[in-house]
Amino acid sequence: MRPHNLKTRIFLDGGNPDETKEIIKLLGFLDGQTTNPTLIAKTPGVREHLERGGRFTSEDIYNYYRDVVKKISALIPRGSVSIEVYADLSTKADEMLRQGREMFSWIPNAQIKFPASQEGLIAAEQAVKSGLRVNLTLCFTQEQAAAVYAATRGAKRGDVFVSPFIGRLDDRGENGMDLISNIVGMYRKGDGHVEVLTASVRNMDHLLYAIKLGSDIITVPFEILKEWGEKGLPMPGDDYRYDSKGLRTIPCKDSDLSKKWQDYDISHDLTVKGMENFSKDWNSLIGQPAGART
Ligand code: G3P
Repeated sequence: MRPHNLKTRIFLDGGNPDETKEIIKLLGFLDGQTTNPTLIAKTPGVREHLERGGRFTSEDIYNYYRDVVKKISALIPRGSVSIEVYADLSTKADEMLRQGREMFSWIPNAQIKFPASQEGLIAAEQAVKSGLRVNLTLCFTQEQAAAVYAATRGAKRGDVFVSPFIGRLDDRGENGMDLISNIVGMYRKGDGHVEVLTASVRNMDHLLYAIKLGSDIITVPFEILKEWGEKGLPMPGDDYRYDSKGLRTIPCKDSDLSKKWQDYDISHDLTVKGMENFSKDWNSLIGQPAGART
């Protein structure tokens, strides 16, 4: 059962509906799910097809993605399900928007993921104007989060998420949890229309500290949610302290939320790398049998 003092919404980060079922059974609730091309590429249906020497066309894989999110959506009809557009470094905003509109029609509770890049923000700005719910992913800086806020001004709460990726910052020696704290603090000065969705969670402490920091949503991989459920859904108490294990502090900037989104510096190498990797994982499924892949 949901702990009475848990305000944060808990999402599963994954692409396998069987795991969704298992988590709902174990926790007694689930508020939503996030998917991405890498997670879909790892699902048993895809792996088994490739192992048998099968191939996918880009249409097959798109249809497979749609079937997966339909199954997930039916399991959490009152939750939110994030679906990510295909975006490599050359994909233009119009194309992202076209895909986003199509994906939004797949299920009633879709939230469309666009990268927190120049083209992704152009697409997101248009998307919210035409009534789509969005999730700006691959966010690694407070400036990117400020730009998401500015690009989606006027949207109602619940329609816009921003996903800061903490584990990938930790991986290179920066304390990803500082980014959550900085963005949550910055948004407190705003109108509340963007919700912080902590992503790239790698361990229980990321989960507990993000709850303590007041992240609106946290998306958590299956194994970690399972561990949390099996331990009886522990909550961080007043005495909870996060051990940053010597990771470098990410300083909080005094960001002004009233600028135009184009006036923020949204460049970040991990956003670029993330887009390259997601598109590579997607493309690796198309046209090649498993044995032919490296
Ligand atoms: O929600 C984003 C997540 O799937 C990325 O996680 O572990 O690849 O950084 P990770």
